[in-house]
Amino acid sequence: MRQPIIAANWKLHKTIAEARQFVAALSQQCPDPGPLEVVIAAPFTALAALQEELHTTPFQLAAQDLFWENSGAYTGEVSAPMLLKLAVTYVIIGHSERREYFSETDEWVNRKVKASFDHDLLPIMCVGETLAEREADGTEAKVEGQVLAGLAGVPKDRLASLVIAYEPIWAIGTGRNAYPEDAQATISLIRATVRSLAGEVADEVRIQYGGSVKAGNIAGFMAQPDIDGALVGGASLDPDEFALIVRYDA
Ligand code: PGA
Repeated sequence: MRQPIIAANWKLHKTIAEARQFVAALSQQCPDPGPLEVVIAAPFTALAALQEELHTTPFQLAAQDLFWENSGAYTGEVSAPMLLKLAVTYVIIGHSERREYFSETDEWVNRKVKASFDHDLLPIMCVGETLAEREADGTEAKVEGQVLAGLAGVPKDRLASLVIAYEPIWAIGTGRNAYPEDAQATISLIRATVRSLAGEVADEVRIQYGGSVKAGNIAGFMAQPDIDGALVGGASLDPDEFALIVRYDA
């Protein structure tokens, strides 16, 4: 049984004060997420404050990126050991916005995945196709390639704690979500790709859908057999909306 995992990806949003207010509101509306794991991926600047706020809640803390070196002359970067000191559990790696605006390659994603596993941080590795790739029937080749490259050389036994987020790029921030059945089909292919690397461990890997998830469509995704949760951008900024997403089953 895979524990479902719903993560808020705040991206470039929320000051420290706003982050604290969000947690207060969410904890009030959703004091017990039941069998669900709830994760908040905040900007680096809010992580220390959230470490304090989340301490007394069932919610887990995530960073939105990391750099693979532990320390050194890398201006602007943040490392796994630094994140661990802030009680960060998860780290988003290879989000399509990082791949697109910051030129992250599959090789970088792979280095980051390895660095996070090396420090017992759990990666949420993002994959997904563009609209042009989808229309050219290239979805399968794209996500398969991203999964294989992102996980190259990662020891099999580590993969059980991996989270993958399948986010079709055309669905991110557009209000245009994938059909749950289509997302299921691609996610099942992603699981098969992990199986080709790690055998039965693939059945333990949690795979989220992301892309315009909101309170009104979450249940359809969660009902799919291979979809184990969601990575939520825009709709995670408002604690009322995010609480409705987390309580989709209530
Ligand atoms: P969205 O973003 O929910 O705003 O589409 C999802 C994501 O980018 O993780």
